[in-house]
Formats: sequence, C-alpha cells, structure tokens
Amino acid sequence: MKKVLVFTAALLTLIGCCNKQDNMENKESNNQAAVMDNILTRKSVRHFTGDTVPAEMVEQLLRAGFAAPSAVNKQPWAFIVVDDATLIKQLGDSLPASRLANNATLGIIPCGDFNNTLEGAARDFWIQDCSAATENILLAAHSLGLGAVWSALTVTSEDDHRSDIARQILNIPENLHPLCIITIGYPAEDPEPKDKWNTEKIFYNKFE
Ligand SMILES: Cc1cc2nc3c(=O)[nH]c(=O)nc-3n(C[C@H](O)[C@H](O)[C@H](O)COP(=O)(O)O)c2cc1C
Repeated sequence: MKKVLVFTAALLTLIGCCNKQDNMENKESNNQAAVMDNILTRKSVRHFTGDTVPAEMVEQLLRAGFAAPSAVNKQPWAFIVVDDATLIKQLGDSLPASRLANNATLGIIPCGDFNNTLEGAARDFWIQDCSAATENILLAAHSLGLGAVWSALTVTSEDDHRSDIARQILNIPENLHPLCIITIGYPAEDPEPKDKWNTEKIFYNKFE
C-alpha cells in the first residue's frame, strides 16, 4: 500500500513538472510571437488625436530608450521630453517634417551628449547609439498603442542645420546634439505596416 502511495505521489509530481514545463514553453513562445508581431507591425504614424500621453507611458518609453545597446556601453545620450503645447507648436511650425503639428502631444529628442562620448573618431558612435535608443522607443510606443514617427534632425556630427532650430527653440545646451525628434501621440490614422522582406538583399558569407 505504501509503495502504491509513493508511486502515485511520484507520478503526480512528474505530471505537475511536465505541465509546468509546458506552461513555461507556451509562455515563452507567446512572448516571442508578441515581440516579433510588435516589430513587424510597427509603422510610422504621422497624424494624432491630440490626447495626452500619460506620464507612466512616457516613463516606459524612456526606459525603452535607456535599454538600448551602445558602443562600449558608453550610453552617450540624453533624452529631452517635450510635452508643453506651446513648444510643440513652435517646433511643429518650424520643423514641418517632424509632424508635431499634426496634433502630436509628445516629442522625445534623443541627444548625443558630447561631454560623455567616446574619444576621437569613436565619438561618432553616438549616432548609432542614439539610433538604437530611437528604435527602442518607436517599438515601445507601438506596443503601448501609441503612434510615433522618427524625424531626423542631425545627418552627421557636423550637419546641425535642423537640430539648430530645435536647439534655439528649446535652448538646448552646446554639449547636447539632437539626433531626431520622435513625434508621439495617440494615432488618428492606421497605416498598413510595409512589408520590406526582400531576399535579394540578403547575402551569406563570402562574395565571389
Ligand atoms: C533617419 C530617419 C529619418 C526620418 N525622417 C522623417 C521625417 O523627417 N519625417 C517623416 O515623416 N518621417 C521620417 N522618417 C520615417 C520614414 O519615412 C519611415 O520610417 C519610412 O518611410 C518607412 O516607413 P515605416 O516607418 O512605416 O516602416 C524617418 C526615418 C528615419 C529612419
């Protein structure tokens, strides 16, 4: 009788473990599918409802930005959050390509902090680092049901024409170099995500 009980207990434990393992595997594959879906369905949104993005979401967006990779983990960035309606109007009017004028209520400007970059030619890694942060923020915005679009300010470290306009309006200090404006709000349009998959642009190993 004792043996039967021990066997039953062992069997139940085994079944429990298998179920737990199955649940974990299901959860992992659901997570993976959700992440891929978020990446593949992200699209630029350029028209907004005018509704305010809650502070908790703004923090989530910033957390996504800070989570980006950076060369030598230098994290040479700073993020300017613009949520003041007057400033958004000024920026939107002066930088029409930013789409801030289309009822957006939030702009996040990832900047390279030239007081905290790598030395010499490696300084320009700030552009790649801030680009990674920008994409993270775009993906986070999409996952939160927000719409967002990347609008370039800087082309190279030397080309500061559009960023100068933002610099002037926001009184941005000399050491900060704005990469782009991420224009954000609740979407007033639902464009189709573009299918960009193209096997002609994939190469394996060596070229002949
Ligand atoms: C470096 C860069 C600069 C961009 N600048 C602008 C811009 O000034 N205005 C704009 O409306 N979209 C801008 N975009 C968004 C692109 O137009 C958009 O990502 C592209 O058309 C692909 O569409 P999708 O984002 O919906 O996949 C920019 C994107 C990148 C990566």
